[in-house]
Amino acid sequence: MKKKITIAVDGHSSCGKSTMAKDLARAIGYIYVDSGAMYRCCTLFAMQNGIIAADGSINEEEFKRRMPEIQVSFKLNEDTGRPDTYLNGVCVEKDIRTMEVSAHVSPVAALPFVRAAMTAQQQAMGREGGIVMDGRDIGTAVFPDAEMKVFVTASDEIRAQRRYDELVAKGQQADFDEVLSNLRERDRIDSTREVAPLRQADDAIVLDNSHMTIPEQNQWLLKQFHKKTE
Ligand code: CDP
Repeated sequence: MKKKITIAVDGHSSCGKSTMAKDLARAIGYIYVDSGAMYRCCTLFAMQNGIIAADGSINEEEFKRRMPEIQVSFKLNEDTGRPDTYLNGVCVEKDIRTMEVSAHVSPVAALPFVRAAMTAQQQAMGREGGIVMDGRDIGTAVFPDAEMKVFVTASDEIRAQRRYDELVAKGQQADFDEVLSNLRERDRIDSTREVAPLRQADDAIVLDNSHMTIPEQNQWLLKQFHKKTE
């Protein structure tokens, strides 16, 4: 049997990484892990436990103390065929995708003790290979030795439109300008933080999918996978 490799898919906010990564994992029989969902879970936990105040300030000491209580897991949803995210055994797939969580997630993900805890969980999940993980620092910090690294981007407006359409399709309140400014702000914080900032790994293959359909980007990714493994 062929050795299963590790695949890192990084890139800017709302560029369709998760869709690509999930579809690839399903097509090749690998495990898919959404690392962003893990940072979203930490944010939801902090919001639910009074660690983040209404003005966005974070009680770091309390957060650090309670970090060991945060356990994130993924379980396949038989209806959607995709994994749902669980925070301490409770399905939070919907709750972590709100604009409120999006508004607080980047400052949370910039905290070194949050990154250390999530990175350790991610590395444990990928120990055996056969994994597709998407995020910001997978090819640079979590799996620097990944055999295949992809860096995805698209124009700001196109990314905002995709995220806006996704929120509307889920029946959530959405305002295009708010979505656009949130993704620009997250990209700014994610790229300038001190620990594991968002950047393209030197050995990543770059994809700008601004003008690609979902089937086109899936085909592109599958082709890259075959190139790497054949
Ligand atoms: O879906 P979208 O691309 O908008 O975001 P996400 O993948 O759910 O990630 C949410 C946030 O988590 C990002 O804006 C980052 O602040 C953080 N994140 C991170 O710091 N490192 C990762 N490996 C993944 C996400």
